Amino acid sequence: MAKPSLVITRRIYPEAIEALSAHFDIAFENQSSDTPLTKPELIEKLAQAQYLFCTVADKVDAEVISAATQLKMIATGAVGYNNIDAAACKARGIRLSNTPDVLTETTADFAFALLMATARRVSESERYVRSGQWKGWAFDQFTGVDVHGATLGIMGMGRIGGAIAKRGAGFGMQVLYHNRGQAKQENGARLVDRETLLKSSDFVVLVVPYSPETHHFIQAKDIDLMKPTACLINIARGGVVKDEDLLAALRAGKIRAAGLDVFEGEPALLPGFLELENVVLTPHIASSSRATRGRMVSLAAENLIAHVQGLPLKTPVI
Ligand code: GLV
Repeated sequence: MAKPSLVITRRIYPEAIEALSAHFDIAFENQSSDTPLTKPELIEKLAQAQYLFCTVADKVDAEVISAATQLKMIATGAVGYNNIDAAACKARGIRLSNTPDVLTETTADFAFALLMATARRVSESERYVRSGQWKGWAFDQFTGVDVHGATLGIMGMGRIGGAIAKRGAGFGMQVLYHNRGQAKQENGARLVDRETLLKSSDFVVLVVPYSPETHHFIQAKDIDLMKPTACLINIARGGVVKDEDLLAALRAGKIRAAGLDVFEGEPALLPGFLELENVVLTPHIASSSRATRGRMVSLAAENLIAHVQGLPLKTPVI
């Protein structure tokens, strides 16, 4: 019997290709590791495909879904799936899986990498050394702020938020959180309202999923509530922060610094961010350890294989 046809939108790891090849005819595998297909390319590749393996950067909207008339399932190699029109999938009976849990600890580690980098001016001082400006040791060189003893405010107490709370306690921080629904775990963090969190925290870390409700969740009026010494860390999604407002606030010195792994319209970002020394910018890599990215790819593959075998999906969205 012919194997079902699978489209893979980005280069993935050989171990996953090997596992998938046993069950699928891989009709297309993008050999590029960082260039997404354009929308017309994606539509064309999906014309005969029954299965799709995609990433956070592929926009699988209602138009793509309606053109993909043979599609039975999408596996995204990510926990967030705001790039996929889940309602359109549901309406067509297309299954969707994501990759929760396997990236929780690695992503929480990275929240701390950004937090430490903003607090202790790591990127800025490294640029200084690299550019040959360092002439000698001084007491007031790149003085930052302490992380131990500071207040950490976590917006979004899901799995990753909980893992960040544990790290905060380990660093001797007071940990506050705000969650729109019931928190999955608290790990010693204290529930406060959104305004209290913004007003009291030295570090505000955003981990809310992106949805119409969290579009521009943080904008000028929210940043105005923050301490002038506070740092904002966004490892959630571009669009959760209104970047234009954040840039204006940073320029006006309304907060101390920002650590940003995600941007509205990424990979494009507001050029103004590049001019500021107190912003740490990374290219959406919070889950990017080799082990974790391997687990994400393998879990997406296992979901696809489960579907073909008529088994329950391991981590279904719908
Ligand atoms: C990454 O951003 C993810 O959602 O997995």
